[in-house]
Amino acid sequence: MKHFLEISQLSKQEAWHLINRAMSFKTQSTDVSYPHISLANLFYENSTRTRVSFELAAKRLQMHVTNLDLQFSSECKGEALQDTINTLGAMGVSLMVIRHSQDGLPQKLAAHVDAGVHIVNAGDGKNAHPSQALLDFMTIIEHKPDLSALKIAIVGDIAHSRVANSLQCLSALLGVGQLMLVAPQIWQPENPQYGIVTDSLEEGLAGADVVICLRIQKERMDASESLDLTRYREAFALTKTTLTHAKPDAMLMHPGPINRGVEIDSDVADGSQSYILHQVQNGVFMRMAILEALVHQ
Ligand code: CP
Repeated sequence: MKHFLEISQLSKQEAWHLINRAMSFKTQSTDVSYPHISLANLFYENSTRTRVSFELAAKRLQMHVTNLDLQFSSECKGEALQDTINTLGAMGVSLMVIRHSQDGLPQKLAAHVDAGVHIVNAGDGKNAHPSQALLDFMTIIEHKPDLSALKIAIVGDIAHSRVANSLQCLSALLGVGQLMLVAPQIWQPENPQYGIVTDSLEEGLAGADVVICLRIQKERMDASESLDLTRYREAFALTKTTLTHAKPDAMLMHPGPINRGVEIDSDVADGSQSYILHQVQNGVFMRMAILEALVHQ
């Protein structure tokens, strides 16, 4: 794997390799070490989980890590991102983890970098968040391994969600039995890659094995999109009552950050069905597997 950009670049075998390798990092002591490899985190959008977990993953693999402080980088003096990457590459940084608001930017950069540089997509605009989808599936498979028998519901602001895109792609690749995409009409995907679209939370959650709740991404809305939060909550919020439409043992997941009292209630986010912190924990192991696969290409 030269770069890690999209789920669509992976074969089914490669996706399973990453999931199984992440599980072995979780259950066994780390048997590999890459002290000669340097990684740079370049986050042009806010992040807690993804940035810190790539840093921890690299450090557990004995890599050297630089978190570029973009407020003080030479891009403030007009340097292009491409030149920043070439500059870091000239210093020996080979892994560039990039989060950016522009759809497709990591993919464009990957087409022009030097041979020894690997681009890692840590979330680009509304397009893709492939490491999040993989860690989500790792979490599901740990508890409900027969994906073909599962009904998974993704609920919320699907139109603005790079996580939802990557989850659809991975659901198709790994053969999820049924995927429901539950959203108000304004936030339904224009071209769903996989799954059935509905604006009925009851229909979407009926008998679901896994419920993945999404944050309302106000930062990606344009001026024409108005939000009536009260109406949204009545129809789509994950509450103790609405969650009863799913199976009693349904896994409740959320990629984070969660907005309590908006798309999800605290007693659900902190309840016995919540796997939100399991997802966060698995993020470190999944990112170890991704970094290892890049170094081994
Ligand atoms: N899920 C996710 O990408 O979270 P962060 O924005 O905190 O990285």
